[in-house]
Amino acid sequence: MTVLLTGGAGYIGAHVARLLKERDFDVVVVDDLTTGDSERIAGTDVVSFDLSADAAANDLSQIMKSRDITSVVHVAGKKQVGESVNNPTWYYRQNVHSMTNLLTAMQVNCVERLVFSSSAAVYGMPDVEEVDERVECSPINPYGQSKLVCEWMSRNAALAWGLRVANLRYFNVAGSGWSELKDPSALNLIPIVLKSLVEHRQPVVFGSNYPTPDGTCIRDYVHVLDLAAAHIDALEYLDRPDRSYDTFNVGTGTGASVYEVVNTISSHVGRKIQPVVDGRRAGDPARLIANVARIQNELGWKASYGLSEIISSAI
Ligand code: WQD
Repeated sequence: MTVLLTGGAGYIGAHVARLLKERDFDVVVVDDLTTGDSERIAGTDVVSFDLSADAAANDLSQIMKSRDITSVVHVAGKKQVGESVNNPTWYYRQNVHSMTNLLTAMQVNCVERLVFSSSAAVYGMPDVEEVDERVECSPINPYGQSKLVCEWMSRNAALAWGLRVANLRYFNVAGSGWSELKDPSALNLIPIVLKSLVEHRQPVVFGSNYPTPDGTCIRDYVHVLDLAAAHIDALEYLDRPDRSYDTFNVGTGTGASVYEVVNTISSHVGRKIQPVVDGRRAGDPARLIANVARIQNELGWKASYGLSEIISSAI
């Protein structure tokens, strides 16, 4: 049984690839290597092409046929909110057109299991203590919209031709399972703060007047190793013949504020950090914490790491 893993040379994908191999799955990676790095997955078969290109459905189909693919884990995608706001059409092409190609190839080859990397960005700005999967999705940027469209596409495929789908809605992924698989970009809070320390700058906090206990935004940080394990559990879940279409939050169910993150980093590096408070960033919900009952009950998955382990591994 061979798994086709898209985006397997990226930060998250490489963690998924490593765990799949540890669990004795055969893996073929497709990655355009624009942000991915094949060094991360040395020893794994990598085929490099752009999943959103018109030829990709055919290229994927060839791989599915020749490699006897039974399941797909689709991690490839663009994931920067700001970039999606500035270049929305390209984001739709990258994320949605890739999904079109993938589903076309899967249908032609009767590949019926798909684990899809979705995002908490599909929820938008939900005004609830904890977000569960039944909360109405109202994404507020093209990135989140493109992920929601992909969920709809896979749902339609499930209804039309029997695709079995598990959408994993990632919350704030961070940390590192192996140092060579770390996230080299500084695009999210934890790596941004660490980079500012390396560069002897004070980190910036976007808003300290939110309606939260310390005034800064609360997020649900999940360790990339836990996240990767959820993909394996989802694949195994889809093996059951009664499965059709499901969506799961992947978070810890616990929130941490920006100040709590900064203070935890401070205690790990043994240095006092005095962040500079700036204005609010557009589109930031005050609080975004996953309700994780469904993934615990259905997949038996539960995060095993907390904020401290996430930060120490990121350091
Ligand atoms: C976290 C908190 C910031 C930087 C993003 C995507 C989301 C998902 C996860 C993929 C916020 C604050 C940040 C800084 C700060 N991606 N912050 N100073 O926006 O919660 O989620 O990544 O699916 O779709 O939107 O993550 O790490 O950017 O921010 O104060 O220099 O840290 O305001 O409250 P976010 P983030």
